[in-house]
Amino acid sequence: MKLKRIAAAVLIMSAAAEVCGEVKPTIAASTATASQWIVPDIDKLPDDNWGRTVRYGRDLIAKTASLIGPEVKDPARRFAGNNLNCQSCHINAGTQEYGIPFIGVFADFPKYRARSGAVGTIEDRLQGCMERSMNGKPLPANGPEMIAIVSYMKFLSTGRPIGEPTPGRRAGAMPELDRAADPVRGRKIFENNCAACHGADGLGQRVGSIGDAKGYVFPPLWGPDSFNDGAGMNTLIDAANFIHSNMPQGTTWQSPSLSPEDAWDVAAYIESQPRPKKANLEKDFPNKLEKPVDEPYGPFADDFSLEQHKFGPFAPIRAAVKKLRQKQRGQ
Ligand code: HEC
Ligand code: HEC
Repeated sequence: MKLKRIAAAVLIMSAAAEVCGEVKPTIAASTATASQWIVPDIDKLPDDNWGRTVRYGRDLIAKTASLIGPEVKDPARRFAGNNLNCQSCHINAGTQEYGIPFIGVFADFPKYRARSGAVGTIEDRLQGCMERSMNGKPLPANGPEMIAIVSYMKFLSTGRPIGEPTPGRRAGAMPELDRAADPVRGRKIFENNCAACHGADGLGQRVGSIGDAKGYVFPPLWGPDSFNDGAGMNTLIDAANFIHSNMPQGTTWQSPSLSPEDAWDVAAYIESQPRPKKANLEKDFPNKLEKPVDEPYGPFADDFSLEQHKFGPFAPIRAAVKKLRQKQRGQ
């Protein structure tokens, strides 16, 4: 992909969204302009220092378990705590529209993050996934892995204007249910649509055997080798939208396999399963009024039950938090 074409396409995307955009009712208005999804071509990079670094970054995303997982030979390189790959969730190494892509992410940092109550860099954001989604420890700050992953992310943001929203980022925004999501109903949906790959026990299917650092063909959705309870995928809204746009494997946001209702309920089933625990979660979101409604752990600024924060419905919580904010501002 030539730079000039990307820049031109970006202009077209922002100017003529209605002409070429397929506006889907399941995607929030702010992200409804997805039209042409442009992935810079990594194979066009020369075999020089920059090209090799970007490709190493791509490999770290795609083959995390083999390169920095808990089973690699050198104990000093065991940074991830589970055998997932980043691309278990960031589909196709972060290049898939509404598959939590990395495209445009580099252009959106540094920024304020409610979780820490401070402005954070893209490196900080990535460490969040190391400690939560990968249930591991942070990468060395200026080590070759961090430099390579951030280089890959910069490459994937080629042509993306700084501060401009990228349509297709994250996983979509389905309408919410006006009832609580139902893990019991979700279990049946899981058995019919997911268990064939992820296993009836949700523990996934390994490439080889435990200890070989080869990771999974189908990653675990819960259990000791999955993401921990502080991870984004352990919040209902992220999980349900991710599943709706991307699962079963091969699904795209343009033609989801599950109805929104089924996606909410199957996500609730997954969220109700056991997984590793992260310490000190109560310290997240120093300003509790900025805490997302679906964080599945307290404390909260409002009086709603933990159960409702986990499974919804979320609109009443949002309304109550809005009132509390107004009260705090003395309105
Ligand atoms: C278990 C699923 C999962 C895994 C594995 C995972 N992530 Fe994430 N990641 C998420 C979710 C969910 C989000 C939040 C998306 C959102 O903001 O809606 C996220 C967000 C991010 C973001 C910010 C994206 C944005 O649009 O702002 C970065 C950067 C990131 N992850 C890097 C990584 C890296 C690097 C790895 C591997 C070391 C990794 N992640 C592994 C689920 C995962
Ligand atoms: C055909 C096999 C297949 C089916 C069926 C399938 N998945 Fe997946 N799933 C995958 C693969 C493979 C990945 C890793 C990402 C990739 O490579 O696309 C994944 C990743 C995931 C992830 C994020 C990674 C993790 O470990 O948590 C979730 C959540 C998930 N699937 C949920 C579901 C749900 C819910 C269903 C049923 C509605 C489902 N999947 C059906 C193959 C499948």
